[in-house]
Amino acid sequence: MRTTFLPFSTPTLEDAEINEVVDSLRSGWITTGPKVKRFEDAFRAYVGAPYAVPLSSATAGLHLTLLALKIKEGDEIITTPMTFASTVSMIVLCGGRPVLADIEPGTLNIDTNRVREKITPRTKAVIPVHFAGQACDMDPLFALAKEHGLTVIEDAAHAAGTEYKGKRIGSLDSISIFSFHPNKNITTGEGGMVCTADENLAEEISLLKFHGMSREAWKRFAASGTPNYDILLPGFKYNMMDIQAAIGIHQLPRLDGFIDRRKEIAEFYNREMADVVELALPAYAPYRQRHAWHLYTPLVRIEKLNIDRDRFMDELKKHNIGSGLHYKAIHHHSYYRDALGLADSELPNASYASERILSLPLFPKMTDDDAADVVAAVKQVIADNVR
Ligand SMILES: Cc1ncc(COP(=O)(O)O)c(C=O)c1O
Repeated sequence: MRTTFLPFSTPTLEDAEINEVVDSLRSGWITTGPKVKRFEDAFRAYVGAPYAVPLSSATAGLHLTLLALKIKEGDEIITTPMTFASTVSMIVLCGGRPVLADIEPGTLNIDTNRVREKITPRTKAVIPVHFAGQACDMDPLFALAKEHGLTVIEDAAHAAGTEYKGKRIGSLDSISIFSFHPNKNITTGEGGMVCTADENLAEEISLLKFHGMSREAWKRFAASGTPNYDILLPGFKYNMMDIQAAIGIHQLPRLDGFIDRRKEIAEFYNREMADVVELALPAYAPYRQRHAWHLYTPLVRIEKLNIDRDRFMDELKKHNIGSGLHYKAIHHHSYYRDALGLADSELPNASYASERILSLPLFPKMTDDDAADVVAAVKQVIADNVR
């Protein structure tokens, strides 16, 4: 058994990131400034989006996007139950009503056929999540959205570097929201980016992110700026700092390499665990896409074991292997159980996955030996607990 603990994820940070942060600290300009602009431009160019707005998190991006779209009391937004709480919580905090549509059993991405069943005259938007970094099937979803006049907001928190039919997520005809939380494919510590082709929407989100101020602080205090400002609407404090962007500037050029390494590890897991009948391994979508392998999420077939998923994770920890939970389905959380009152039979695929899913370690710095340790521990836990 390995002697050191292997976490399920850890960021890949090198001297370039560290030196750039130190440079910001020494420069005296640590909040939103030229490095945020550099990161914004580089990210926009990478994904191929006409406009990008850097923010303090993807949660902030979801919040401001919904506000900018004027989502209000009674508006319904359809999304997936297999997501992080903030996707759904931001709908609630804007006064909207989240409507959960079930997922496909293999990819765990939202199922367009289930979305169709949930559309009512009050539906305003749909938020697909590119689960684990695998692109949702966007063509049928866009067609459905067009038919019903719905806005598509991609929760692309997992999808930096993901491609759908040859196009990067961020460049499709919608709004996409990325996360740079430390577990994500690239990080800025905390951070997010909204990408869109809609200039007015990008402007509105830019205003909302910083007090509704007509001019950002760094321009006001720069030599070429003027200290005066005007408040055009009440706004939030959701700006990204230069200290954060300093990290992102050096992460972005390495993103493709990170994804290549993630893919190698995921394919190793797929090969080594192909014959483990107690696991359902992640499925590839049938259409052309580039999986960014943000997560590796097998389902544990608990029917074949004497332990449940939580015990499975505890047992892995005894072998010094960390794991993550992405996700306990939204309707299984206390607040949403009460607020939405959804029975498992209404969301059978998400309910099934929610009880069985776990995230195995997957990050670029993992060695081949680390990956082999994960497989050995998984097989041992199964052997020790098989029915
Ligand atoms: C699917 C999904 N949506 C939204 C978020 C929120 O991202 P952030 O932590 O940047 O606010 C996350 C983060 O874990 C996520 O995984």
